[in-house]
Amino acid sequence: MAQLWGGRFVGETDKMAYEFNASIGFDKRLFEEDIEGSAAHVAMLAKQGILTGEERDAILRGLGEIRDEVRAGLLEIDDTCEDIHSFVEMQLIGRIGDTGKKLHTGRSRNDQVALDMRLYTRKRVVGTDGLLKELLSVILKTMEENLETYMPGFTHLQKAQPTTLAHHYGAYFEMFKRDRQRMADTFRRMNYCPLGAGALAGTTYPLDREHTASLLAFAGPTLNSMDSVSDRDYLIEFLAALSTVMMHLSRFCEEIIIWNSNEYQFVEIDDAYSTGSSIMPQKKNPDIAELVRGKTGRVYGALMALLTTMKGIPLAYNKDMQEDKELAFDAMDTADNCLALFTGMLRTMKFRKERMAASAMNGFTNATDAADYLVGKGVPFRDAHGIVGRLVLYCVEKNTSIEKLSLEELQTVSEHFGQDLYEAVSLKTCVEKRLTLGAPGPDAMKTVMAAHRAYLEEEGFAGDTADGQTE
Ligand code: ARG
Repeated sequence: MAQLWGGRFVGETDKMAYEFNASIGFDKRLFEEDIEGSAAHVAMLAKQGILTGEERDAILRGLGEIRDEVRAGLLEIDDTCEDIHSFVEMQLIGRIGDTGKKLHTGRSRNDQVALDMRLYTRKRVVGTDGLLKELLSVILKTMEENLETYMPGFTHLQKAQPTTLAHHYGAYFEMFKRDRQRMADTFRRMNYCPLGAGALAGTTYPLDREHTASLLAFAGPTLNSMDSVSDRDYLIEFLAALSTVMMHLSRFCEEIIIWNSNEYQFVEIDDAYSTGSSIMPQKKNPDIAELVRGKTGRVYGALMALLTTMKGIPLAYNKDMQEDKELAFDAMDTADNCLALFTGMLRTMKFRKERMAASAMNGFTNATDAADYLVGKGVPFRDAHGIVGRLVLYCVEKNTSIEKLSLEELQTVSEHFGQDLYEAVSLKTCVEKRLTLGAPGPDAMKTVMAAHRAYLEEEGFAGDTADGQTE
């Protein structure tokens, strides 16, 4: 048991209580950020004349050494310290002696952990954004290649109107694009530096908070020291954004599972992303898609848990907040893994275009177009709807489809049907005529896809502030 406090204690901490309280097991992940934050703090202390130049250099050298040894695997972050902050400080004191004891001047572990977690989360937001961008580029490529790959569009999981694969994928493009916007938004709102807030009420040392904020590439310092040490909104926002990403992935997975089923056979998932059965030799299961769908609950769980943890906490720091880490780390890892795997699965998935087109042909997906055809002949839409309804009933009884009826049969239902009906209800016409912006018609799709291409070529927010000075 090694800890940074103890002066006012006479008794030993109960072993179980110590272990219950310790966070080193999971906050060792914040090692790089802890060093980075300490280095900025020390540089600022020297600039303000609180430490001498020599003291600063000794501390920076010590911190650099610790970092390099941990990176090289020469120094292990073991459980002998209570948390990562104690580990780094004790290592430093062990190496450079009394000067190391000056590192924590004008700082508390409360603003230290608030900073470490923000620095870490900020990197993860950028990482997730990159994965989303990768996924969007796979989606757009599939769209560009499948402008005329016809398939049924569904409502209520019932065939509704014909559409294209490009159009269907385009819906997911919008979702994941909004997810990226949520990443950018979270990033920008969280990008303020809590360092200098101290335990809760700032410090009596003349710290330059603007300086540390700028050394750490933040947009500026936070403006209330109590809020600085007890705000976890940014994590909640990130978890909410990740939950939305997972919800989108899960919906997409559900569709892929359906499309991959024997009944549909719209797609074939690559062997690399399928698994077999131990008993049924014929099986090739969409396990990856199912697992991504399944893990969605886990990410939602982290969001709910953190919201619940935070709801009754008085200002300012309380130990409850330590609970943010395991939850958030697990959710971040889960979402990123799911995104990477899903993107690989999507990139390698094959489409059975004939099956998709054949499916779009049956199920009366062209019934709306038959009604629109009658409207073109001067029939009011409500009457046209009734006529085509009777036509569909006729087809159902005869076990056939609209375009397979003879002109005579069509005309027994309405004299307005002519030879040009067949062309009007073909799959190609049905799709091509849907020309409004956002619809599957090829011209409308081309406009949208060109905008998507330009969007993906933009640098995005990641270049703004996150990189560079975080080393
Ligand atoms: N492990 C703690 C956490 O994650 C660090 C902050 C400790 N501060 C304190 N006053 N005990 O929240």
